[in-house]
Amino acid sequence: MRQAFRAAVLHCLADPGEASDATAVEYFDDGLLIIEDGFVIAAGDASRLLAQCGDDVRLHEFPGKLIVPGFIDCHVHFPQLDIIASYGEQLLDWLDRYAYPAEARFADEAYAHEVAGVFLDELLRNGTTTALVFGTVHPHSADAIFNAAEARGMRLVAGKVLMDIRCPEELQDDPVSAYADSKTLIERWHGRGRLGYAITPRFALTSSEEQLAAAGRLAKEYPDVWVHTHLAENKSEVDEIARQYPDHRSYLDVYDHFGLLRERSVFAHCLRIDNQDRSVLAAKGGAAAFCPSSNLFLGSGLFDLRAMRAANVRCGLGTDVGGGTSLSLLRTASEAYKVLHLQDQALPASRALYLATLGAAEALYLDDKIGNFAVGKEADFVILDPAGTLLSKRRTDAASSIEEKMFALIMLADDRHIAATYIAGERYEF
Ligand code: GUN
Ligand code: ZN
Repeated sequence: MRQAFRAAVLHCLADPGEASDATAVEYFDDGLLIIEDGFVIAAGDASRLLAQCGDDVRLHEFPGKLIVPGFIDCHVHFPQLDIIASYGEQLLDWLDRYAYPAEARFADEAYAHEVAGVFLDELLRNGTTTALVFGTVHPHSADAIFNAAEARGMRLVAGKVLMDIRCPEELQDDPVSAYADSKTLIERWHGRGRLGYAITPRFALTSSEEQLAAAGRLAKEYPDVWVHTHLAENKSEVDEIARQYPDHRSYLDVYDHFGLLRERSVFAHCLRIDNQDRSVLAAKGGAAAFCPSSNLFLGSGLFDLRAMRAANVRCGLGTDVGGGTSLSLLRTASEAYKVLHLQDQALPASRALYLATLGAAEALYLDDKIGNFAVGKEADFVILDPAGTLLSKRRTDAASSIEEKMFALIMLADDRHIAATYIAGERYEF
């Protein structure tokens, strides 16, 4: 059965850049999104498309609302849900004080499953339909998040964390078990329905050289799985890597050396890298997750989006909860605007939307499946309500263009502005 959704429709066709290139976005003030069997059939002007619709199309009307593609979170930790907003530390102390104790609780399999369900419901409540997700060191943490995603029909990529040194003993695996457990999980989950596996070394500080080499061997064996890790986030972390690996040109070069930089490698943060790293990252097909809320909250630094995109590095937004303070990619985009404004860089609403949708899909090599309303893409979408709060209603009512309206919404919106989230054409009921 065909279904049609009538409201304003906005999506990106390419990166609008700092100047908000009008040809990179498509906007239909009275728009229609037509879907069938979970895929996009058409998006365009309602008047034109309705004339082509027969009686067999079920029409859903959302006057005053805005339809956008489902948001894609390029970096988030589901086991850190319950320590979001923990006070006072920068990265390495924050890991010791908050993140590691929270992750140790995931030894309890039932707890892991409970958190996974709550976490995905929170993503969906915030309009996020796809995410690249860190688990914990426990293999059953990956089972928990994949089971929960499968039950909801979500497109999701995740993995068990690899960490065998410089962290609490109860959270350590070893190179042999890390390889074997990841391989078992790849065989079980990668390519099953809408799910994909990410080989997930936490970062170069908590993996031995033997473990990084094992991760690289696995990546070589499975060229179409993802690699997901952290890169150059915090000053003390980067200084320590330089001490550990004096013969490597850069932190990125360490990952590259072990075979962990390639297409489908996603590096969270990338704050303290240079232009040579950026060009290597781009040339080898790696991507960056821009996590502004986390970078501000943990006092890590400012992401240089202009330099990244000038070097053609694939970039998408990440919430990085629990280092980040919100699962909302709208809230995260508003932090991105401020981080870039501080560096004299522009972030028009169109580009913010790109970083949360098509850009993120490109970063994850999923842009043939999700990210906008091109014909044949999977029908993951969000109904945004500009009147989600009294203030946002007043501000958006006064807007004279979609760019102005969307910008105000990004600055003011949160989960109260997500009227509905659709996964493969199905409305998610909480
Ligand atoms: N680097 C290594 N582990 C982590 C983590 O859990 N969160 C963040 N933000 N950075 C990390
Ligand atoms: Zn992270």
